[in-house]
Amino acid sequence: MTNLETVDTFKQIMGSYPTGVTIITTVNEDGSPVGLTVNSFASVSLDPLMVLWCLDRKSTHLNAFKNSIGFAVNILAADQCELCWAFAGKSLDRFSKADWSYSENNLPVISESLGVMECKTVQTIEAGDHIIFIGQIIDIVKRDKEPMLYFRRNVGLIPEGWPV
Ligand SMILES: Cc1cc2nc3c(=O)[nH]c(=O)nc-3n(C[C@H](O)[C@H](O)[C@H](O)COP(=O)(O)O)c2cc1C
Repeated sequence: MTNLETVDTFKQIMGSYPTGVTIITTVNEDGSPVGLTVNSFASVSLDPLMVLWCLDRKSTHLNAFKNSIGFAVNILAADQCELCWAFAGKSLDRFSKADWSYSENNLPVISESLGVMECKTVQTIEAGDHIIFIGQIIDIVKRDKEPMLYFRRNVGLIPEGWPV
């Protein structure tokens, strides 16, 4: 089933599936902040509040996320497009490009994002070439901002004229 053509079709369909954009962060063993751009984020449960996201096994931060007790989901606002690309690029000098601070839970949180959900990791599931992280929310913040939209490899504001 998994030939090159079906993989390409899968990528095209997923690329045409609009999502929001998050930067998911945690700390390394030495306490330094790490994070990457993620759109595989989804809600899981209301009682208790739980979310999930998927991390590529090839991530340079696989061990940091596996060994940490939790993670922060920073949901990006439409005016944070540069951060989306900075945290998806090869350079690991990512936090110098962001306004951020450590939360009370000692997780790196990005200032002026639309929302932050701090989570303790309650389950990890190996799934193909990714690992699913499931987290229970321990702290949540929402700001009154417009969301960032990701669609066909572009990011931006939800266009005027929506909804039709
Ligand atoms: C919009 C967008 C969404 C992404 N979503 C994911 C994702 O859900 N999981 C993932 O592992 N990588 C995702 N990536 C790719 C990572 O951000 C990128 O590979 C990053 O360089 C990984 O850094 P790391 O190896 O330091 O963890 C996404 C990239 C973009 C631009």
